[in-house]
Amino acid sequence: MYRDRIRNAGLYNRIVTADEAAQLIRDGMTVGMSGFTRAGEAKAVPLALAERARREPMKITLMTGASLGNDLDKTFAEAHLLSRRIPFQSDPGLRKAINAGEVMFVDQHLSETVEMLRTHQLPDVDIAIVEAVAITETGGIVPTTSVGNSASFAILAPKVIVEINLTQPLLLEGLHDIYIPTKRPHREPIPIVAPESRAGLPYIQIPPEKIAAIVITEKLDSSAKVTPPDDDTRAIAGHLIEFLKHEVKMGRMDSDLRPLQAGIGSVANAVLHGLIDSPFHDLKMYSEVLQDSTFDLFDAGKLVFASASSITLSAEKHDAVMSNIGAYKGRLLLRPQEISNHPEVVRRLGVICINTALEFDIYGNVNSTHVGGTHMMNGIGGSGDFARNGFLSIFVSKSTAKDGKISSVVPMVSHVDHTEHDVGILITEQGLADLRGLAPRERAALVIRNCAHPSYRDALEDYYARAVTRGGHTPHVIEEALSWHARLREHGTMMKG
Ligand code: COA
Repeated sequence: MYRDRIRNAGLYNRIVTADEAAQLIRDGMTVGMSGFTRAGEAKAVPLALAERARREPMKITLMTGASLGNDLDKTFAEAHLLSRRIPFQSDPGLRKAINAGEVMFVDQHLSETVEMLRTHQLPDVDIAIVEAVAITETGGIVPTTSVGNSASFAILAPKVIVEINLTQPLLLEGLHDIYIPTKRPHREPIPIVAPESRAGLPYIQIPPEKIAAIVITEKLDSSAKVTPPDDDTRAIAGHLIEFLKHEVKMGRMDSDLRPLQAGIGSVANAVLHGLIDSPFHDLKMYSEVLQDSTFDLFDAGKLVFASASSITLSAEKHDAVMSNIGAYKGRLLLRPQEISNHPEVVRRLGVICINTALEFDIYGNVNSTHVGGTHMMNGIGGSGDFARNGFLSIFVSKSTAKDGKISSVVPMVSHVDHTEHDVGILITEQGLADLRGLAPRERAALVIRNCAHPSYRDALEDYYARAVTRGGHTPHVIEEALSWHARLREHGTMMKG
């Protein structure tokens, strides 16, 4: 009876159905659930809970690692189950409920959630639901394709529901490194000095008696939609590679570079993919999510090690990687997101951070989250954890969106996620602006010339010229600074008529 998966015989009597396990969750509870960028989320119990909420209305606060697969956030939104959602999501249905004000979304740096929980700055977790490959003899929970916040949820919650997923290969065991920072005020340095450093245990250790229910599932992770590289993303990758070559030539790093972090989304995936055709070698990643491009880089012999908090793959790549996971195992590590994104480690390792912007302004402030300044897209995710602390803080974006109706380079961003102080290099398909060591007036000229789309360049030049006549360290025509967004709202385009 699943002896290879549940190795502590004293836990056999905890096996229940998903419906029975969902009964442990009551109206008003705070639930901490596994799941990070659509990987390794608990699947059966959440669906049973949503089903129950349709019959008997209830509300919970839901904390996860990051976004959930299997349309769970959509299902929760449709069942009106969520009063509060922390710290990230990427589902169109939930996005709608958030933007309608129905769900209170707390958009957080991904490294911070469990630190705040630990010190009771967020509501205590009443129950944790964690997907696992297996439970060890000592009650250790072996996570699946993500670690996220699962370890701290399980440690801090008084009760834990474990979903044993039979479709997740047992070979995943050994892939995880669960390190939990020691308590303040005598906290020790995190003993990670390279992406391959191991600092913790290969499972989440909790007292087995806290495991209140075990549910057996066979539901797969949902696959990521991967948009193949296009001319624009290839051009962005080309500019990045030229820049990195220049940095090597200047002696700022060797041709194995520094550990790489790449954000979520099609642009970052395509840009990383571009490194296959670069002169760099023996690359390592210290990132939060590993997408298809990571395994393409492994297979091309470019990458030697990758550390992150989750593996999120397209359907095609999923089968290829999971059926051959043994071959990658010695070159991969999955960590709690608190550690994969930890400012201390990111700064120590000198990570090259590549994240995607929705828009940025002529001075280098970046908006990653709010469409038109008001409507939540996904959330800041780990981009702030990395951008502020990395060795190189790079933001990429296509220069326009929505068939050219939106310029991604604007006079002033309509929402700020990354201030100019955290942004070093901006890249669009048009070119690259290296902002390091530049004052705002120097930045503006470079950003407009190198990154803006030609159809918006003159308007930006004109704005900046008029702003300069008013003076200031960061010149603006303040009453006009958000006029591009206002025009978009009124006329459906930022382009002047
Ligand atoms: N205004 C409005 N919409 C914009 C826009 C802008 N300035 N720029 C892009 N968009 C739209 C695109 O048109 C596209 O819309 P669609 O889904 O309807 O086609 C969507 O935003 C995604 O843009 P795309 O160019 O395909 O980029 P992406 O898939 O790489 O996603 C982000 C870009 C910014 C949304 C995504 O990277 C993100 O959520 N980032 C924040 C979290 C993060 O950076 N985490 C990093 C650590 S993992």
